Amino acid sequence: MNSFKSVSDRKIQTLFPIVLFSIIILGNLRLVLDSFKRNQSNILGIYGRLKGESNNGVRVVVSPEDRLEEGCDVFEGKWIWDNESYPLYEEQSCPYLVKQTTCLKNGRPDSFYQNWRWQPNGCNLPRFEPLKLLDILRGKRMMFIGDSLQRGQFESMVCLVQSVIPEGKKSLHRVPPMKIFKIEEYNASIEYYWAPFIVESISDHATNHTVHKRMVRLDSIAKHGQHWQGVDILVFESYIWWMHKPFINATYGSPDHVTEYNVTTAYRLALKTWADWLELNINPLTQKLFFMTMSPTHLWSWEWKPGSDENCFNELHPIQDPSYWGTGSNLEIMTILQKTIAELKIDVTLLNITQLSEYRKDAHTTIYGERKGKLLTREQRADPKSFADCIHWCLPGVPDTWNQILYAYLLKTFQNFA
Ligand SMILES: *[C@@H]1O[C@H](CO)[C@@H](O)[C@H](O)[C@H]1NC(C)=O
Ligand SMILES: *[C@@H]1O[C@H](CO)[C@@H](O)[C@H](O)[C@H]1NC(C)=O
Ligand SMILES: *[C@@H]1O[C@H](CO)[C@@H](O)[C@H](O)[C@H]1NC(C)=O
Ligand SMILES: *[C@@H]1O[C@H](CO)[C@@H](O)[C@H](O)[C@H]1NC(C)=O
Ligand SMILES: *[C@@H]1O[C@H](CO)[C@@H](O)[C@H](O)[C@H]1NC(C)=O
Ligand SMILES: *[C@@H]1O[C@H](CO)[C@@H](O)[C@H](O)[C@H]1NC(C)=O
Repeated sequence: MNSFKSVSDRKIQTLFPIVLFSIIILGNLRLVLDSFKRNQSNILGIYGRLKGESNNGVRVVVSPEDRLEEGCDVFEGKWIWDNESYPLYEEQSCPYLVKQTTCLKNGRPDSFYQNWRWQPNGCNLPRFEPLKLLDILRGKRMMFIGDSLQRGQFESMVCLVQSVIPEGKKSLHRVPPMKIFKIEEYNASIEYYWAPFIVESISDHATNHTVHKRMVRLDSIAKHGQHWQGVDILVFESYIWWMHKPFINATYGSPDHVTEYNVTTAYRLALKTWADWLELNINPLTQKLFFMTMSPTHLWSWEWKPGSDENCFNELHPIQDPSYWGTGSNLEIMTILQKTIAELKIDVTLLNITQLSEYRKDAHTTIYGERKGKLLTREQRADPKSFADCIHWCLPGVPDTWNQILYAYLLKTFQNFA
């Protein structure tokens, strides 16, 4: 009991100065900006209120430690043991986590996976400051679009910011296929939109879907797209649902003519549809776009432990070999994504989180998650070889780092405008 108390005391002590620090900084900036407001109203109009509404929301100060060094590749680096500052929030303190991610509550005996910090080789990631992010989001909507992995990133983002918002000033709404987290005082929202293929498919129902029966409409996106219109920050992701088999049933052109497509061809056509939609519907001056690269799987332990025949269950440490790359992360798909984005007339920032996540064989939900909406039975848990989930991640965990990187890029945008 005693030792538990001292641990949680220490946590409170280390968190408190961060919060205080942000309040002080933000307070100062407000004063500075107010006095410059008249001269700078044009610039403020662009980066403060992207939609040209009142611009009294500009309070973000990007301090030198926040600045991602020019040319620094935050995606190359290593995981460092840091149980002082990580996790960035506690599992039980975030009421918005779904059962699929609460590994400790579901019985996972170790929490080591929560204590690793991503350290880029040539620079540091800015410290995640929820109040700064909220200021960036003031009057804005940020939406995560994709499958259940993207939902994990959405939940991570909500948990990262929710602790600084008072009770009654925050709320989570389920509006299938969306989840919307509202932050009242900031008139901001963090949202999630279920679209596992980005384009339309028969798997678009928020809960009634199965990976075994897939049919993708490679040239249709309008039904989803109408919900993305005008959203200030869009974060896309789509991979794992494509990869169930080498071929996938799809339509292109005639909606009644279903044929089997090679997955790489299908993915290329779908991204083309997405890209065309963006060019017609996105205003690059007011909307910011991101794409998360594939979240890796750790389904086969022989990939990091040659000769073994298991999966990610019971793994307690990240992979050390810097060149490790699992066979599940298809580089052909990666290239298609890269080319599509390079050819786009508007900017989409590709956040290449695959390599850093490849190292984290220890951080999946394994037998401490859900299967078909239910926690595993005792019998299923006794058979990790068949039932361990080596695709989804525990929270707090790896998706927090993805969001730290997203946060760093959002700060950078502010810095560039300023
Ligand atoms: C942090 O990790 C170190 C090294 O493994 C360990 O000695 C220490 O007890 C840990 N501290 C906490 C608070 O868990
Ligand atoms: C709040 O945000 C929404 C969506 O971003 C925007 O349409 C609306 O005008 C904002 N309201 C105020 C009072 O700023
Ligand atoms: C789920 O969808 C399938 C077809 O897409 C339908 O036949 C079935 O009735 C649906 N189940 C529920 C519970 O809605
Ligand atoms: C799919 O097409 C790509 C080239 O576009 C090819 O490299 C790959 O082998 C094909 N896959 C199958 C299963 O035919
Ligand atoms: C495509 O659909 C047909 C008919 O439902 C099915 O027999 C076939 O296995 C499906 N192909 C793939 C790759 O799922
Ligand atoms: C993402 O990173 C991996 C590993 O460094 C690299 O192989 C891949 O080409 C990168 N993808 C893009 C689109 O830059």
